[in-house]
Amino acid sequence: MTENNPQRIGVGLISAGWMGRLHSRAYLAIPDKYADWRLRPDLVIVADPVAENTAAAQRQFGYREATADYRDVLAHPGVDAVSICAPNFLHRDFAVAAAKAGKPFWIEKPMGVTAAEAADVVAAADAAGLVTGVGFSYRHAPAIEYAQRLIRQGALGRVTNVHCKLNADYSADPRGPRTWRFERAKAGSGVLGDLLSHGFDLAQYLVGAPVAAVCALTETFIAQRPLAGEGTGHNVAVSDDAPLAPVENEDYAAVLARFGGGVVGTFESTRVGIGARCDYGIEVHGTEGALRWNFERMNELEVCAAPGARDYGYTRRLADAQFGDFARFQPGAGMGLSFDDLKVIEGARFVRSVATGQQLSASVADALATARIVAAALASQANGAWEAVAPAVGRTTFNR
Ligand SMILES: NC(=O)c1ccc[n+]([C@@H]2O[C@H](COP(=O)([O-])OP(=O)(O)OC[C@H]3O[C@@H](n4cnc5c(N)ncnc54)[C@H](O)[C@@H]3O)[C@@H](O)[C@H]2O)c1
Repeated sequence: MTENNPQRIGVGLISAGWMGRLHSRAYLAIPDKYADWRLRPDLVIVADPVAENTAAAQRQFGYREATADYRDVLAHPGVDAVSICAPNFLHRDFAVAAAKAGKPFWIEKPMGVTAAEAADVVAAADAAGLVTGVGFSYRHAPAIEYAQRLIRQGALGRVTNVHCKLNADYSADPRGPRTWRFERAKAGSGVLGDLLSHGFDLAQYLVGAPVAAVCALTETFIAQRPLAGEGTGHNVAVSDDAPLAPVENEDYAAVLARFGGGVVGTFESTRVGIGARCDYGIEVHGTEGALRWNFERMNELEVCAAPGARDYGYTRRLADAQFGDFARFQPGAGMGLSFDDLKVIEGARFVRSVATGQQLSASVADALATARIVAAALASQANGAWEAVAPAVGRTTFNR
């Protein structure tokens, strides 16, 4: 890199579905939004067994090469960093192979279908000495970064309890397709891994301590769904006469949690909640204040000082330049960022981690930490008892 020449980072994309497209858009936005970092992701090669998806990725994002085989991405000499955006059951093998090929990777959550698979990924990345990134989309929302700063500065006093919800209606329609997300072998758990992995990371990031023990219940409200036809993500066709197949993982989970350091918390998630569009939120309560945030209004943070303060009650703060990376996206206070912008922030941290060798983004160790909470919650659901969460290992960043 010279003064005028940004550092090129050759990018290979594995899986060009919803998240693959989003990672691609994020890479392309980095030289604009993070111009001062002088990094230039160069989209080299995309892999997906669905030719239509690679063709679209080439057309829309400019990948120069395409393949059906992810190994071509890992073997490519022009690739410095890899995005892994496959269905969950492929994550372990793809990530371990990326680590063995010496390629830093940005992987979607959950990182495999079990905590054991996630542990394999951490071991492989650590053995190769790689920086990594994980798709915890919400922890770098500017309002969350501001909330974390308030908490670390002691604005809430001693944090006592957290309430976190990730309630969605994306599968509320019983005629909605039975995609890979509903199969245990392909997805692992249901909402615990799909949605609450975000919530566990968010809570650990704000509290700054790991979840140590959980007591959970889960429920599957829609027991069967029509088999999916063509397509990706949630946008999959279903024919009227499609046969029904069982839903193999949970639609709903409720989790009581004890964090290290004495904080307690409650978590709730549904994917079939009528009316809950993206009702993803967190409340943090302390001895001297409280705050709350919801993704549906993600550019706002509500903060409340302790009783006795003047104008006691929640005050709504709109995002401005004091909020995380807000000013990189908008010049004026109160203007909005989008979900896709959160992915740009996440991608920028990953690419900068690759360029500097420092772990600046959420890491595979953070993803393993959430996978271990999911595993403990599933064990608790099965035996009806509190379950200890296996301790986090490796280069976690939530507790920095
Ligand atoms: N961070 C977030 O907020 C967020 C949101 C949605 C999904 N996700 C995660 O992203 C991952 C992908 O989800 P999605 O919604 O993009 O799924 P998707 O179904 O839209 O895309 C999956 C893609 O993987 C491809 N694929 C299948 N087999 C493959 C193989 N052998 N090699 C390469 N590619 C293969 C499919 O053809 C498809 O293009 C999942 O782990 C999911 O949990 C994260």
